[in-house]
Amino acid sequence: MKRIMVTGALGQIGSELTLALRARYGLDNVVACDIRDAVGHLADGPFQRADCTDTAAIAAVVDRYEVDTIYHLASILSASAEANPQRAWDVNMGALMAVLEVARARDCAVFNPSSIGAFGPGTPALHTPQDTIQRPTSIYGITKVAGELLCDYYHQRYGVDARGLRFPGIISNVTLPGGGTTDYAVAIYYKAVEEGRYTSFLRAGTRLDMMYMPDAVKAAIEVMEADPSRLSHRNAFNVTAMSVDPEDIAASIRRHIPDFVLDYQIDPVRQGIADSWPDHMDDSAARYEWGWSPAFGLEAMTEDMLRVLRGRLGR
Ligand code: SER
Repeated sequence: MKRIMVTGALGQIGSELTLALRARYGLDNVVACDIRDAVGHLADGPFQRADCTDTAAIAAVVDRYEVDTIYHLASILSASAEANPQRAWDVNMGALMAVLEVARARDCAVFNPSSIGAFGPGTPALHTPQDTIQRPTSIYGITKVAGELLCDYYHQRYGVDARGLRFPGIISNVTLPGGGTTDYAVAIYYKAVEEGRYTSFLRAGTRLDMMYMPDAVKAAIEVMEADPSRLSHRNAFNVTAMSVDPEDIAASIRRHIPDFVLDYQIDPVRQGIADSWPDHMDDSAARYEWGWSPAFGLEAMTEDMLRVLRGRLGR
């Protein structure tokens, strides 16, 4: 029986993954942690306010709930990280180190998300291989590469069962992302429903990997349930569901909202970050080693996003 702790449980991924984990493993077996107070359905099950850069605070939660698996989602995203690189390093690396140290001492498995941000301008942009050049130019990417290596180190050196995914941009409709470069791909759907138009901060033609949240949740659960004897990679698997630019998403939205207008006001910081990331990763290692297969492509995702948002926003 798994007993799980989720850090960053109020974030974009955490708020949905926590509920999925509770549905799968039992409400009382998943303790949600965040630096903020519980909101919404997360308060229906165990919740602990904790700063996950604090090793003692993490250890206390693990002990109290007899946790054996930590989903470590707390992190500062790419654009916010550029605004304060020193803090991004302290939070992203400090929290991961604290989680791994607790996992080492208490024999916990660890899920650590990496990102397309772990690649850089020297990486092949198309069919980006699982094992390739990783020289990111954003501080976020630097923390992601260091995190991948640290997780592998804790596995090799101490036997910690650490596993991870290189997530693409995640598109969702429950909790907004905050401070990421791929956030436009979420905002475009909200604005399409609310106002019929959207101004993108990334330029037309900026192609990036993306994934709908149900697939991201599925991937995070499946990689942790995978048979370890089949894993020759661990930290971290390329996973993607589509490769799209703002025009592709707009065209998909126009099938449902024909008058939707997309225009552009480029943010040089986020454009620079996006330009340094791959256009389309090769995720065949994940497919081969643990059976990864996304359920949603662009059209199915758009249909679902618009249905949910129209219902919620009453349009
Ligand atoms: N969605 C993240 C970001 O844009 C990438 O991992 O920062």
